[in-house]
Amino acid sequence: MTPFPQSFPATRLRRLRQADWVRRLTAENTLTPSDLIWSLVVHDGEAARIPVAAMPGVDRLNVAEAAAAAKRAKALGIPAIAIFPHIDPAHKDADGRESLNPDGLIPTVIKAMKDAAPEVGVICDVALDPFTTHGHDGLIDEAGYVLNDETTAVLIDQALVQAEAGADVVAPSDMMDGRIGALRTALEADGYINTLILSYAAKYASGFYGPYREAIGSATALIGDKKTYQQNPANTDEALREVAMDIAEGADMVMVKPGLPYLDIVRRVSETFAIPTYAFQVSGEYAMIQAAAQNGWIDGERVMLESLLAFKRAGASGIITYFAETAAQKLG
Ligand code: PBG
Repeated sequence: MTPFPQSFPATRLRRLRQADWVRRLTAENTLTPSDLIWSLVVHDGEAARIPVAAMPGVDRLNVAEAAAAAKRAKALGIPAIAIFPHIDPAHKDADGRESLNPDGLIPTVIKAMKDAAPEVGVICDVALDPFTTHGHDGLIDEAGYVLNDETTAVLIDQALVQAEAGADVVAPSDMMDGRIGALRTALEADGYINTLILSYAAKYASGFYGPYREAIGSATALIGDKKTYQQNPANTDEALREVAMDIAEGADMVMVKPGLPYLDIVRRVSETFAIPTYAFQVSGEYAMIQAAAQNGWIDGERVMLESLLAFKRAGASGIITYFAETAAQKLG
């Protein structure tokens, strides 16, 4: 016997789809504002908002606007905001030293957001690419190879600066081996026992990050690509090894990135490990939906909500998305 014997017309699956009430009653997955992490780009200039051309609807926000956004997140029921910095190119160098400035953009934004809306979680990217002249996530040698252990040492200092400023979650997005364990040890040693680590555990070397590089101003800078540290899009098992390592080293939550093209990875990770698993609907995914919507080729709002629900169906605990505010408004 098959597990699902079908006999027609005893079984007419369309009975369950005939009206809104029964479709809602039988829905297997739901999307709520509590599922959303708002991906927010901030900048260190005066202008309140600077549009990102490749991401229609996304602006870089100054510190005051970021604080106002945190208040809106609270009102909308969005649990957390992930912040990404665009800094003045004059502050960039080969070592990304600005990432360690306790009075830099990110620490300033963290404090402003926690003052404005202490109930909203603040998540900080741990990586050097917004701060380096070469656009890589870490320190490079003469050949341009990203150095693993030397980079990890700097990332730990960067994360401690974020924790000191009040970040609730530090989220290493760099893919260096061993950085989660090193970070956990350093946080414990400095007394930050409740600072969460959200590991970008399975992060792929992806073309879908294109618009993000414009957003944070690392597009023109990037020399080469990130294939020696980010994962090969051809691989699945490797993602499970990455996640297993990060959990063993002390990650509280893990992430799969990009999102929609990698739902198979989200499914495998969420099924294999009993740990909160997030997916990042990245800049290129956002841009594709917005571009098609602007052309009138798709119903943008509908596709936005459908794409976010797809993450829930795949087993994600939540979604990091540039759509968070708009989606929460529709869902609320
Ligand atoms: C950098 C970082 C990237 C993103 C988040 N953190 C880009 C990259 O790895 O090149 C991408 C976000 C997006 O595309 O929305 N460490």
